Amino acid sequence: MREGMDTGLRCDLDSERPAPGPAMIVVFGGTGDLARRKIVPALYNLLREGRLHPDSRILCAGRRALDPREYREGLREAAARFSRTGLDPAAWDRLAARIEYREGDLDSPALYDSLARTLSSPGSPADALFYLAVSPEQFGPAARGLARAGLGTAGRHPDDTAPYRRLIVEKPFGRDRASARALNLELQDCFAERDIFRIDHYLGKETVQNLLYLRFANSVFEPLWNRRYVERVEIDVLEEEGIGTRGGYYDGAGAARDMLQNHLVQLLCLTAMEPPAGLDPESIRDEKVKVLKSIPAYSPEELRRRSLRGQYGAGSDAAGRPLRGYREEDRVRPGSRTETFAALRLEVDNWRFAGVPFVLRTGKALDRRVSEIRVLFRRPPGTLFQGSCGDRLGPNGLILRIQPDEGLWLTFNAKVPGRAAVESGALRFSYREKADSLPEAYERLLADALAGDSTLFIRSDETEAAWSLVDRLEEAWADPAAAPPVLYPAGSPPPAAP
Ligand code: BG6
Repeated sequence: MREGMDTGLRCDLDSERPAPGPAMIVVFGGTGDLARRKIVPALYNLLREGRLHPDSRILCAGRRALDPREYREGLREAAARFSRTGLDPAAWDRLAARIEYREGDLDSPALYDSLARTLSSPGSPADALFYLAVSPEQFGPAARGLARAGLGTAGRHPDDTAPYRRLIVEKPFGRDRASARALNLELQDCFAERDIFRIDHYLGKETVQNLLYLRFANSVFEPLWNRRYVERVEIDVLEEEGIGTRGGYYDGAGAARDMLQNHLVQLLCLTAMEPPAGLDPESIRDEKVKVLKSIPAYSPEELRRRSLRGQYGAGSDAAGRPLRGYREEDRVRPGSRTETFAALRLEVDNWRFAGVPFVLRTGKALDRRVSEIRVLFRRPPGTLFQGSCGDRLGPNGLILRIQPDEGLWLTFNAKVPGRAAVESGALRFSYREKADSLPEAYERLLADALAGDSTLFIRSDETEAAWSLVDRLEEAWADPAAAPPVLYPAGSPPPAAP
C-alpha cells in the first residue's frame, strides 16, 4: 500500500457488463438546479467517455415555456461550469443535438401522454429512464402520471422482455418512516420495485465504493474488522457551508433528516455489514438492512444521552469575515430550534460489532469540510512503550477520506529517529495521485441505472429502516424535557460529540 506503488494488477468489474443500449432519458425538473449542476454535466461526461449510447435522447421537462436554443445554451454554460472535465465544444455539440426541452405540467396528463407518444414514435429509443429531479411532493403524482399513460411497470413479470421503464427518485425520500412507507407504496403501485432507483449520491462517490473493495478485496483488514480489534468507529460528514438559500426546505428538516438518515447511515452500513453472498444488488442490500436491524431501539432518554444537536450562531470564517447565524438565514423561522449539527453514538448489536461505539457526526457552518470514516483499533497494552507525553499509545487507525483529498491512511506508532520515544506515523494512499479527476457520483449512478444495476441505490425496506432510527431520535429531541440545540459559532470546530 505504499504511496504510488502499482502492482499492475487490474480487475475491471464494470467492463464485464454489456454496454447499455440507447435510452430515452427524461429529466423531470429540467430547469432546476440539480439538472444544471449535476445531471446534465454527468450525462455530458458519460457521452464523452463512451459510457452513454450515442443514440440516446435526453428530454428535459419543465413547467416554463422556453426557447429550446436558449435552454440548450443555458445547459452548455452549466456544463462548462460544473463538469469535472471542462467543456470540449465538439463533445458538447454531440450531446446538445440529443437534448430536447418539453414544456409541461407535472399535474396534467398531457405531459405524460406526449412522452408516451414520443417513445412510440419511429426512431425513438425504446427504453426509458425517468429521472424525478423535482420537489418531493411531486414524486408520487409524476409516477402516477407515467403509469396512467402506460409507462409504468407495476405487475410486470421480471422475465418480461418489453422495453424497460425505470424511475430514478431523488431525496428527500419522505420525512419520517410513515411518509416514506406511503411513498414506497405509491411508487410501487406504478413501478415494480426493481425499476425504482432511490438515489443517495454518497453511494456514487468513488471513495465510498472503495470501502467495499477495501474490506472484501483484501485479507489484511477483514480479520481485524470486529469487536475484538476495533475500539471505536467515527463517521464524520462535516461542511463549511451554511444552509445558503435552502432555508425553506432545511428549516423543516434539520441535520438528522437531511444527512444522517441517508448519507451517514449508508456509510455506517457499508462499514459494519457482513460480507455479502455476492456482488448482486440484493445480496449487498440485504446485508445493509441487517445492520440497521441490529441497532438497538434505544429509549428516548437513552437517545438523549447518546446524541447531541447543535445550531450555528453568528461567527466568523478563517479570514475573520463575519458569518450569519442560522436564525438570520433567509426563510428560517425566528427562534427556530432546527438542528444544523447532529451527533449520535450508537451500537450495532451483532456478533461482529456488539459493544463497539459508532459515532456519527454531521453539521453545517463548521471550520472544515471533511467526510471520513475512522476505524480506530484497540490500543496495545502500555507495558513496554508509552506515548510521547507519558500517556497511553495512540490507537492504530484506518482513515477513509471520502472528501476532500480522497484516499486512505493507516496510522501506526513508530520510533522517533534518534530518541527512545514513540510517535504516530501514517501510510497513505491518495486517489488524486492515481487519477486527475474522479468520476462524479451522478455519472456512476446514471450509468448504473442505465445498465439496470441497483446496487448503489436504496431499497424500500432500507429507507424505511433508516427512517425508524431517525424517527426515534426526532421523538427524543421533540420531548419537552429535551434541551434546545447547543449554539456553536459559525466557522468553529464541531461541538464535542456525546
Ligand atoms: C445533500 C444535502 O444530500 O448532500 C445537503 O441535502 C448537503 O445539505 C449535501 O450539503 C452534501 O453533499 P456533498 O456531496 O457535497 O458532500
